[in-house]
Order: sequence, then structure tokens, then C-alpha cells
Amino acid sequence: MPKYKIKVNGTEQELDVDNEMPLLWALRDVLGLVGTKYGCGIAQCGACTVHIDDAPVRSCSVRVSDVTGRSIRTIEGLSEGSRLHSLQQAWIEVDVAQCGYCQAGQLMSAAALLKDNPDPSDADIDVAMAGNYCRCGTYNRIRSAIHTAAAYENAASQAPDLRQDLA
Ligand code: FES
Ligand code: FES
Repeated sequence: MPKYKIKVNGTEQELDVDNEMPLLWALRDVLGLVGTKYGCGIAQCGACTVHIDDAPVRSCSVRVSDVTGRSIRTIEGLSEGSRLHSLQQAWIEVDVAQCGYCQAGQLMSAAALLKDNPDPSDADIDVAMAGNYCRCGTYNRIRSAIHTAAAYENAASQAPDLRQDLA
């Protein structure tokens, strides 16, 4: 089998996998990064969202062979060192998750949004998050948490003190 090199959460990985293997399979079954979830498998639900070179992508529908040499970030790499990402802190404070299954994908889409738009409106959020489904209907809390995280980021002097330390 061919070997593909990708960088995942800052670490170079060499994957000896079939050239048709979706990135999601490689992340979960080969690298053991099971935070990224399988939902529909056809790029419709957003549960499998990761970043490829900072852009949100449905990992169920991208082959490893198509992302060789690229930089991947998963939910396991969202925190900043030992500190929660501001979105993770906001998710806790707003108590967003219900069953939790969709939430890794929601967070990765939200992180991509805030990187491009640090102060999104409700309409901006609705557009950016439209491809991430939540069967538990946590949409209002997701929107609230994104605003909360944006406020953390925009009050940078307070943000570091508000986030929990993972260590
Ligand atoms: S599992 Fe990839 S979009 Fe649903
Ligand atoms: S929290 Fe249950 S599917 Fe979103």
C-alpha cells in the first residue's frame, strides 16, 4: 500500500493505507483520534468536521491520498497547549452539549468561523454553522457560546484567566 504523509495536530504522521481511505477512517482507526465522529458519511451532517490548513472540511468525504502534505487539526488539537480554546471554555459555561455526539464537529466549524470573523452576528453564525446538524437541537446554545467565545477573544486581557487549565 502507498504511504501518505500528513501533519495532524502538529505531528508528522506517515500512513500506510489504501488510497481510497477517507481521512475520517485514518484519524479514528489508524491514529486513534476518536473525538471526530462519524455521522452520515456523505458530507451532510458535519459530525466529522476537521480543519485542513485552517479550513473546515468534512473528513468523511476527503481521501487521505488527497491531503498528503497538508496540515490537519482535529478536536484533540483545538486546545492551545494545556489551555482550553476560548470556544471550549464558552461551551462549558453555556452548557451547550446534550448527548454530545455532534459537538466536536460544531466546535471545529465554530473555530474556523471565529478565525475568519472574530465578531460574528447571529446571521453570520447561522450561515457558518448551517452544515452542522444537532439532533438534540442545541443550536441556540451554540450561537450563544460562539458569542461568548468572541467576547473572550475580544477582551484578550481577560481571556487567559477565564480558561481552564487542562494540566
Ligand atoms: S459524517 Fe461526515 S458530514 Fe456526516
Ligand atoms: S448534542 Fe446531541 S446531536 Fe448535538
